[in-house]
Amino acid sequence: MLAWTGGAPMLQTAPLSTPHVEVDSNRAREFTNVRPFEEIPGHPGWPVLGNTIPMMATPVTFLENWYKKYGPISRTRSVGVDILLLLGPELNRLILLDPHEAISSRQGLSFYMDPFFKDGLVLLDFDEHKLHRGIMMSAFRKERLAEYLNLMNPVIDDHTDRWMQTRGGRPLDRRTFYFFPNFKHMALQIATRVFMGHELDANGDKLIKAFQDVVAASVAVVRKPIPGTAYYRGIKAREMLEDYFYSHIPEKRANPGHDLFSQLCIAEDDDGNTFTDEQIVNHMIFLMMAAHDTTTMTTTRVVYHLAKHLDWQEKVRQECRALETDFLTPDHVMDLPNLEMVIKEALRLCAPVPGLPRKTIKDLNIGGYFVPAGTQVQVDMRHTHYMDEYWDDPHEFRPERYAEGGIENKAHRYAWLPFGGGAHKCIGRHFGLYLIRAVVHQLTQKYRWHVRPGYKMPLKNPGLPMPADGFPVTFERL
Ligand code: HEM
Repeated sequence: MLAWTGGAPMLQTAPLSTPHVEVDSNRAREFTNVRPFEEIPGHPGWPVLGNTIPMMATPVTFLENWYKKYGPISRTRSVGVDILLLLGPELNRLILLDPHEAISSRQGLSFYMDPFFKDGLVLLDFDEHKLHRGIMMSAFRKERLAEYLNLMNPVIDDHTDRWMQTRGGRPLDRRTFYFFPNFKHMALQIATRVFMGHELDANGDKLIKAFQDVVAASVAVVRKPIPGTAYYRGIKAREMLEDYFYSHIPEKRANPGHDLFSQLCIAEDDDGNTFTDEQIVNHMIFLMMAAHDTTTMTTTRVVYHLAKHLDWQEKVRQECRALETDFLTPDHVMDLPNLEMVIKEALRLCAPVPGLPRKTIKDLNIGGYFVPAGTQVQVDMRHTHYMDEYWDDPHEFRPERYAEGGIENKAHRYAWLPFGGGAHKCIGRHFGLYLIRAVVHQLTQKYRWHVRPGYKMPLKNPGLPMPADGFPVTFERL
């Protein structure tokens, strides 16, 4: 009952280096030399849950073993959804570039995102997506990013200073500091200021709470608006956020500030297209979600690696110190090559967005198999980032692998994809990287930090990965 074609050797598939997508609107018989979908190897796992539990417990190991057993193209099941799992950079490229507009992001993601993040940028397809992305780009230009950075720096300064305050007479450097929840709090305050242009006051706290309720509802198991459930709270919270954004649009349009919300209200593409009120509201709510956990987790992992590799922490500290500035400025963001390599390696070892769900909307030939329209497919960076075909010692933290001329950096354009690729490649990546650099810049100037010997961050993977223990770290004021 459970078996599909479990154990079929990967050699059955087309050679790994040459899978191809051939579009045809007709059915399987119209393709030349394709094998039926049913012959794709894989295993559905447990009823309903499928392979969710082992996949969530140890995703990298699970995927390494899975790949050895079933190869680059396989079928699995997760939370009741049958998925065609596509592993490796070449398949990543084919799915994400999607030259024939045969693969829908909206249909692949709506199960996970609707109704809380409806019509966010990643949920739009093809021409509609291109139009919206073109308008939104104006809020992510270099000059705008510089203004966001200027808004972030004082909030980072204030929070990281407060981390030093004593509690019960014990200085911070003598007690364990849980980095993840503290940083999350700071990131939410930054979102209030930089995204919404709102003051850090009691109303700002209500907005933060509403945002957290929306995120919690989006991953709730009970998916009906029954009073008392997380889902119900999420619906109410989304209504509150909508009311807030709608009511502030006229003022933001009339008198725009440097915050992202203002910039979306006045965003315009080269043809003069702008967003409607409804589009602004939907984009804002999605943007906050897209930015928050991803940036929080990346910063946490960077701080973690620097705590474990004190030589790298010192190198980063020295290059930050050499800038001779308390706050990182837009002119200097690119002047931190060691930090750059550490961030890249942190993103490889733990991609905050682990996989990219999509759905085929045309019949396809993928790697020699007939894949009908309507198939849920998934690209998975957790596996690609650890493939020893592309990475030497993939489980090791080795930032120098990205040093100029480092061969691994160029192994395959789709071997490193923490920000995705193709039309939906993260539009906020520079924003996120500005924030991460600004935080680490300030931290290295204020503190030295370490973890206890042998510490390894335990991860939980409820959707996106996060530290199961809050990441205890010891800071020492410089
Ligand atoms: C280190 C931090 C970040 C990581 C690792 C990350 C990762 C990603 C990934 C993998 C995607 C592609 C999703 C897909 O194709 O299904 C994506 C898309 C997106 N991200 Fe990020 N992201 C980060 C930070 C941010 C920030 C700070 C913002 C906003 C300020 C943001 C806004 C978006 C948006 C709007 C999209 C959709 C783009 C589109 O569909 O055209 N992200 N991100």
